[in-house]
Amino acid sequence: MALITTPFTSRTTASEILAGVDLTGRRIIVTGGASGIGLETVRALAAAGAEVTVATRNPAPGQRALDLSDLESVRAFVAGWSGPVHAVVANAGIMALPARRLAANGWELQLATNFLGHFALITGLHDHLRQAGGARVVMVSSGAQLLAPVDFDDPHFERRPYDPWIAYAQSKTADVLLAVAAARRWAGDGIAANALEPGYVHTNLQRHLDADAMRAAGAMDEEGNLLTPAHFTTPEQGAATSVLLAASPLMDGVTGRFFTHDNQEAEVVQGGPDAKKGVATWSVDPAAADRLWEYASEAIGGR
Ligand SMILES: NC(=O)c1ccc[n+]([C@@H]2O[C@H](COP(=O)([O-])OP(=O)(O)OC[C@H]3O[C@@H](n4cnc5c(N)ncnc54)[C@H](OP(=O)(O)O)[C@@H]3O)[C@@H](O)[C@H]2O)c1
Repeated sequence: MALITTPFTSRTTASEILAGVDLTGRRIIVTGGASGIGLETVRALAAAGAEVTVATRNPAPGQRALDLSDLESVRAFVAGWSGPVHAVVANAGIMALPARRLAANGWELQLATNFLGHFALITGLHDHLRQAGGARVVMVSSGAQLLAPVDFDDPHFERRPYDPWIAYAQSKTADVLLAVAAARRWAGDGIAANALEPGYVHTNLQRHLDADAMRAAGAMDEEGNLLTPAHFTTPEQGAATSVLLAASPLMDGVTGRFFTHDNQEAEVVQGGPDAKKGVATWSVDPAAADRLWEYASEAIGGR
């Protein structure tokens, strides 16, 4: 099947994606929409006329409380929602926690926050998505999905040694698998689901990285000054692919796909430490997607 292309590049901004697009009447939820890539996603969607709900841990006036690592908080958010939702941008995330931490339900915290909280949110909102007619689910994954599959034998690092990057990578692979499974299960409801990687952007996400890790990423010099390598983009450029998948008419009817930060559909490649670009076979494996869906459904109490 031919890969989907667009006229955009890695330097296209979120607002350029929506030039001439009127989103009046569309209700869109953006998790983690108060900072970084999420904030620019919110700005572009709102500027095009959408009614955007910013879901965040520490809500300012006009925003909604949502802690994705706490299933009670997700349930409360869902219970408080009424009417259709035209898109959910699952953008919130945490990265490379230096030590293994667990959510209240015993899940490794990155898998709990980046994946399970979003799974509970999106499945909880299923009826509201269906009501919209043509709704879109957008999973903000990462190039890190190329690094590790979901380890169904030990997803919470109970037996294998904890590794901050493998834990992050696993959670971001899980995000893609969520889109793959939702696309298959919800096609009859008119709900599209896609995933993306936003590229490298300086944000609060790097808060858990020490100086060595920042230097290894080419994002800090020996004196500790922040560097912006040429392959980094701005938050407004980083938000472009989320906005493309959430609201561009160019994506009507597109579902179950993965887009890279240059706003093109990704090639499926063999994952591993040397993989640089594309989406890993393990991230789009339909059997893994179904298995993860069942596992997550059980974890949130069946659905
Ligand atoms: N920046 C990059 O280079 C890059 C690369 C690849 C993928 N990504 C992905 O892009 C997405 C956005 O990240 P970003 O770079 O914009 O970083 P960011 O500025 O740190 O944004 C992440 C957001 O997630 C929120 N969040 C974290 N834990 C949460 C929880 N338990 N419940 C609800 N919200 C929570 C944060 O809220 P608080 O402010 O309350 O912590 C923050 O608003 C993430 O999914 C990330 O994995 C980013």
